[in-house]
Amino acid sequence: MSSNHPRTDPRSLGLELRELASGLAVEAGELIESMRSEVDMAGDTKSSATDVVTAADKASEAFIMERLLAARPDDSILGEEGGDVHGTSGVRWLIDPIDGTTNYVYDIPAYSVSIGAEFDDEMIAGVVYEPKSNTCYEASIGSGAFRNGEPITCNAKAELATALVATGFGYSPERRAGQAEVLVSLLPDVRDIRRFGSAALDLCAVADGRVDAYYEKGLNPWDLAAGWLIATEAGAIAADLRDGPPSPEFVLAGGPALFELLRDRLVALEADRLP
Ligand code: IPD
Ligand code: CA
Repeated sequence: MSSNHPRTDPRSLGLELRELASGLAVEAGELIESMRSEVDMAGDTKSSATDVVTAADKASEAFIMERLLAARPDDSILGEEGGDVHGTSGVRWLIDPIDGTTNYVYDIPAYSVSIGAEFDDEMIAGVVYEPKSNTCYEASIGSGAFRNGEPITCNAKAELATALVATGFGYSPERRAGQAEVLVSLLPDVRDIRRFGSAALDLCAVADGRVDAYYEKGLNPWDLAAGWLIATEAGAIAADLRDGPPSPEFVLAGGPALFELLRDRLVALEADRLP
């Protein structure tokens, strides 16, 4: 998407969109909590038998889309549950109505509502809200990253051996087999591995210094949009393994020195060349 909006200042637009998104993420979080009694452990699945979707995912996305379009009718929207609106403003929202749906279904706290906004293809605002702990991570371009209003920064670790590294796994058995091989090779070289189950929260954990780095192959744009900006605004590098931006091919996030060490290790393992 490219558009001509010469008078738009991405920084002030980012602040405005962040404020809108944070209110909506908190309300969507309250909505999914109110639907907890309806959770169906044997609910519908999507890309594979392990890829669950609940009525709460759909209700959360419908709520966020309705409110975004009421506030900003000319924006575009891409949502995990099928949201697809083509607007003219140059702003595109990327919505993950529940990131970590498996955790939601099992009532494990690590799930979130993730709302990112890009302007002319650049991420300018991101909000990730964890309803169970009432924690809201936010960032807008050039203005830093925040947890519940407090500024956050990533760790400045510069060695692999003491790095706590988060990762995640896709839903296809073939990809998981390759991801497991990468993990087996990496595990002896790092402090330990964490698999929380929400990519958006993994990226916020990097931003907040609760892990030193995070990597995953195969995310969707809505999984990583908001968390990517929150991590980079907290001082982390977030990119693929070949000098490109984070993408479904790969995302690695960490403080600058650790990013380089882990990237070299993951390139050697061809972690982005899995099925
Ligand atoms: C998933 C989570 C998980 C990651 C998967 C994602 P979903 O999103 O972020 O941590 O490992 O790759 O698909 O399906 O819970 O929205
Ligand atoms: Ca997701």
